[in-house]
Amino acid sequence: MTATFCEYKPGLEGIPATKSSISHVDGNQGILEYRGIDIKELAEKGSFLETSYLLIWGKLPSQEELREFEIDILFHRRIKYRIRDMMKCFPESGHPMDALQTSAAALGLFYSRRALDDPEYIRKAVVRLMAKIPTMVAAFHQMRKGNDAIKPNDELNYAANFLYMLTEKEPDPIAAKVFDVCLTLHAEHTINASTFSAMVTASTLTDPYGVVASAVGTLAGPLHGGANEEVLLMLEEIGSVANVRPFVEEHIAKKKRIMGFGHRVYKVKDPRATILQELAEKLFSSMGYDRYYDIALELERLVSEKLAHKGIYPNVDFYSGLVYRKLGIPTDLFTPIFAIARVAGWLAHWKEQLAVNRIFRPTQVYAGKHNAPYIPIAER
Ligand code: SDX
Repeated sequence: MTATFCEYKPGLEGIPATKSSISHVDGNQGILEYRGIDIKELAEKGSFLETSYLLIWGKLPSQEELREFEIDILFHRRIKYRIRDMMKCFPESGHPMDALQTSAAALGLFYSRRALDDPEYIRKAVVRLMAKIPTMVAAFHQMRKGNDAIKPNDELNYAANFLYMLTEKEPDPIAAKVFDVCLTLHAEHTINASTFSAMVTASTLTDPYGVVASAVGTLAGPLHGGANEEVLLMLEEIGSVANVRPFVEEHIAKKKRIMGFGHRVYKVKDPRATILQELAEKLFSSMGYDRYYDIALELERLVSEKLAHKGIYPNVDFYSGLVYRKLGIPTDLFTPIFAIARVAGWLAHWKEQLAVNRIFRPTQVYAGKHNAPYIPIAER
């Protein structure tokens, strides 16, 4: 069945692709809710694993349920030696998102049974992916420096352990808490490109490792999760507050995108950007100031002055990089960190899709020719 041209929306803008109860965004009010709970509540009072449990299993866990989930994940943090050996062959110049996509897909080689109707298989896959993705990101970071992967530290919680695996130093408790909140903020965001990618892949009934590998590949793009890395590179390129105005004016004149701004849904400041800005300021007061923050503030002021009429405001990627930089995290790990958090949302949508599955197969508006002749190559 071919659609009519008027039904076609580039990028499926505004077209519902599913019915979901996982999260809700009000782009005009700047509201984000996970299972009905405002993101500000979860960022302030919850933890990333508690929020992941809420997203994936649909309810806030009891103390016992949360403890069980935390221990389950702790026991599954390590990755198979064959995957570590495979990662040692990756070029050190490769992007960590490509390393993550490859190693996430490789997990599927060890768990290839697709028992999607077995709740224990589903539960195990959720735990394995939540537990191993951070270890794989940190392992590649060590290996590309010629080191062995740092073993997970079972004394540390989820967020602190990841920072530990990057540096082999136990992180400052404030830094670990700030990082945990960043993971909560990035965990889920309705039907964004990488979540949609996960849903389409899930709808073919393939395994969850392939679903996550699809989503990682989608998240990597600079218009999506890759923007946080681009923002830091942009702030470094601007270099001073005085250079902000010429930078903005040149980008607008040439209709070039300013990274970290704009959103398909938010037409006001992304509520996550507001919380990340507060976290950045908290870190600066405890760990020292970051001169790029002044540039970021001036950039936000000028872009809002010139583009607010188009609904262009900071999105989640604008301040996250400043937080990660202050935590000593290398710029090219910013998007893999986005992936670590978003695995929770992808798995929640994977489960929701399986519950009412119908394979995604949209239609098109055909714009090509009909009855075209085959011209022999000698005559072309
Ligand atoms: C994420 O979907 C999600 O929920 C994603 C996410 C999540 O949690 O999963 O929130 C995470 O991906 C955040 C977005 C990160 N990307 C960036 O920061 C890259 C820069 N942003 C843009 O590329 C853009 O804003 C998008 C891709 C985010 C949204 O693009 P849309 O909705 O397709 O907007 P559009 O291309 O239709 O632009 C509308 C107008 C255009 O101007 P006109 O042609 O109408 O004159 O706004 C302009 C655009 O030129 N515009 C920008 C701009 N973004 C849009 N102008 C300058 N700088 C920008 N960043």
